[in-house]
Amino acid sequence: MNLSVVGLQWGDEGKGKVVDYLAGQFDAVARFNGGSNAGHTVVLGTKKHTFHLVPSGALKGKELLIGPGVALDPVVLKDELSLLPPEARGRMLVDGRATLVSPLEKKFDALLEKIRGASALGTTMRGIGPAYAMRAFRLTPVVSDLLAEFDFSPMEQFYVRVGVDPSGLQEWAADSRKLVEGMVGDVGARVVEKTEGGGAVLFEASQGTLLDLLHGSYPYVTSSHTVSSYIPASLGIPPRMAGEPLGVMKCYTTRVGSGPFPTELDGTLAETIRKVGNEYGATTGRPRRVGWLDLVALKYAVRLNGVKKVAISKLDVLSEVKEFMVCVAYERLGSQTTDFQKSLSHLGEVRPVLAAPLSLYGSKFGDAIPPQAKKLVDYVEAELGVEVSILSHGEERASTIVL
Ligand code: GDP
Ligand code: IMO
Ligand code: MG
Repeated sequence: MNLSVVGLQWGDEGKGKVVDYLAGQFDAVARFNGGSNAGHTVVLGTKKHTFHLVPSGALKGKELLIGPGVALDPVVLKDELSLLPPEARGRMLVDGRATLVSPLEKKFDALLEKIRGASALGTTMRGIGPAYAMRAFRLTPVVSDLLAEFDFSPMEQFYVRVGVDPSGLQEWAADSRKLVEGMVGDVGARVVEKTEGGGAVLFEASQGTLLDLLHGSYPYVTSSHTVSSYIPASLGIPPRMAGEPLGVMKCYTTRVGSGPFPTELDGTLAETIRKVGNEYGATTGRPRRVGWLDLVALKYAVRLNGVKKVAISKLDVLSEVKEFMVCVAYERLGSQTTDFQKSLSHLGEVRPVLAAPLSLYGSKFGDAIPPQAKKLVDYVEAELGVEVSILSHGEERASTIVL
């Protein structure tokens, strides 16, 4: 049975760890959205692996698929593959219709951030927004265009007109062609073939629900679709093959980049959680903003994704912190709401209504679930109407409890 792993917050929920953990039960792992803005961490012993484009099933020897909905930066892919055993390349299949990211999109990303001025999004500068925009403009090559004749002049002209120097594009295309040769194919067809043949594919989302271009905290979002309903469309497979979504959530919240964050903390408490949780961006190294668990936002994410099962990560972090607060409603202009969608247009103005139903302080994780963690499981299950199926209590693969 196919399955997907999606992020329920603003990204960095621990999707990479969960995908690596589960990958053994699947034949292939497929990325369906985003690009090298993603940073998915897998820790094995003392070795840390950060995946930006390569699916996080790479260390389990699985087939690695990059679907047509991905924004592919061949330079990043090359660097990432160079860190893996040579045979990993033989397991990669990149869809010919995936959108390419060239150095020009990265320059354009920087230019757009400058234009936004005080409203800058704090993008990862990986050229993601511009690449998807260039796809919508129908000016950019897709992966298979690298293997044929492609007329780059409209794209070059566009960049000249917006003030981005287009030099080096042809050289980049020639280098990229060498990299992708032998890896290009039809990922949707491969997923269908595997599924119909009785195999199973794991779909790995990048970013989180609240960064979805349509459904997230627009305009402080990414430029792709991060929610489960886009999996079949983004891969080119029938909806019935998308499988059940497993939502990943931290037991607190983090966010990198700008935008409203109702439960955000500051001061020493934020510093402590950031330090204990090592909350620094896996792609950009930026300190992540941290805040309490936000049930209002999570209920929305659960509904949007149709999630029935969740994995909760970072329990060990709050076992070192005395306080544990949960946002149960938003307050604005004297009234309260639990409707995240209605709050989206003024998310920066809401105040979190906090409760302290439990604490993880002092929990000791061994083979059994500590009583504090069991309380959290019961609480999350009751509040979100989901089943908690995985608990993560450390960055290492083994620090995982399956319920
Ligand atoms: P992703 O983007 O959703 O894959 O998440 P990231 O890899 O960007 O960020 C999650 C970070 O937390 C990484 O550094 C992981 O190694 C780490 N991590 C994942 N699960 C846990 C956990 O349960 N406890 C701790 N302490 N770290 C974790
Ligand atoms: P993973 O897959 C957290 C954020 C950026 C910025 C906004 C737009 O590791 O969870 P972009 O470069 O996509 O145009 O930036 O989205 N962002 C992420 N935040 N985790 C990610 O991915 C992210 N990918 C993008 O910080 O606020
Ligand atoms: Mg990440």
